[in-house]
Amino acid sequence: MRIAVCPGSFDPVTNGHLDIIARASKMFDKVIVAVLHNSSKNSMFTIEERVEILKNNCADLENVEIDSFSGLLIDFMELKNAQVIIKGLRAVSDFEYEMQMALMNRKLNQNIETVFMMTSSKYSYLSSSIVKEVARLGGCIHGLVPDSVEEELIKRFNIGG
Ligand code: PNS
Repeated sequence: MRIAVCPGSFDPVTNGHLDIIARASKMFDKVIVAVLHNSSKNSMFTIEERVEILKNNCADLENVEIDSFSGLLIDFMELKNAQVIIKGLRAVSDFEYEMQMALMNRKLNQNIETVFMMTSSKYSYLSSSIVKEVARLGGCIHGLVPDSVEEELIKRFNIGG
């Protein structure tokens, strides 16, 4: 069984992430979306919220599972018997850091491959941070994130002033 993992912070998930997850689900028997539990990073959504949002938005994809992890991605991959790491590449600017991570992960476990997928052009400028920034400043983020995330971001930024 070919199992791939899509790792990320997903704080929050964007339509760019969802596009990669849906396309990856057609290429593998199972895709595990792995949400990074990162205590040192100031996340806007809790790990439980990020997992829940992903579960709600991937419910139609039968071979997609949502999980969370902390520590090394490679250790999570081994635990899940997964062979492939899926990463979305938006632009050349993503490449250097992604290559570093891919090579480090390969050094840690030679049996695990990283596969890069090109983000759909309509989402190529998207990132969770830029979406949060625009929402915080009152800009329109419609169509860039799932509707429930859009509502939640608007609500949180309004309450926060
Ligand atoms: O969405 P992000 O924040 O760009 O995702 C980064 C992620 C989660 C893929 C990366 O930080 C990661 O794999 N972290 C786990 C710790 C780890 O394995 N580090 C060594 C990788 S070289």
